[in-house]
Amino acid sequence: MSENRLKHLALIMDGNGRWAQQRGLRRTEGHKKGAETIRDITKYCSEHPEIETVTFYAFSTENWKRPKYEVDYLMRLLDNYLKNELETYRKYDIKFQVIGDTGAFSKALRHRIEATVEATETHRSLTQILALNYGGRAEIVRAVKKLCNRDEPLTEENITQALQTPYGDVDLLIRTSGEQRLSNFLLWQISYAELTFTDTLWPDFTAEELDTIIEDFKTRKRRFGGI
Ligand code: IPE
Ligand code: IPE
Ligand code: MG
Repeated sequence: MSENRLKHLALIMDGNGRWAQQRGLRRTEGHKKGAETIRDITKYCSEHPEIETVTFYAFSTENWKRPKYEVDYLMRLLDNYLKNELETYRKYDIKFQVIGDTGAFSKALRHRIEATVEATETHRSLTQILALNYGGRAEIVRAVKKLCNRDEPLTEENITQALQTPYGDVDLLIRTSGEQRLSNFLLWQISYAELTFTDTLWPDFTAEELDTIIEDFKTRKRRFGGI
């Protein structure tokens, strides 16, 4: 039996707030620690020969419902993360991409995002995608509108191609913090993804745990409707 190939890994990073609250800290401290986890997991992925793409759910279209100070903190954290990460992207040959509607972000943050995309576009060892102001339904609507405007037929292939960034189907989706739901993440791309839910809160998630989850993924029987 041939092993499952893991080309596209997707992560719903959940539990930052609870991690902080359990320690008597402000929720924002959990986000800060969570950003370090993104760095560790990205490095692990860049050194994993099979993984071509890793997509992190960083901010959903629904996360605007949070208190303004938390949203503002997340925006500042993202700006800082990208500023500090440039060295890591260079050192580990990582290409940075974004999915979601960043039009709602400040001009400065949009500029930082664009500059990081440009600075890393020739990198090849791994593509790291951050889902920012991302919603799976919104992404599908945008794709369908694009096809209608171009008067192209609505086929599965055309929709897949018209998605903001057609990085291909997700092979393995992991959600931390014990919640077992998708929260509007990559709805189209996960139709045959293997799912793993772990109780670990995102700031405590490690490359070792990811390694164990990947080992388990390798042994699963993916049938894609066959027998
Ligand atoms: C995930 O952690 C980070 C974002 C959604 C931005 P949460 O902030 O959702 O943490 P919990 O779920 O409240 O613990
Ligand atoms: C999902 O986490 C979104 C991100 C990880 C960015 P949430 O904490 O926002 O999801 P719900 O509200 O618990 O479903
Ligand atoms: Mg949450």
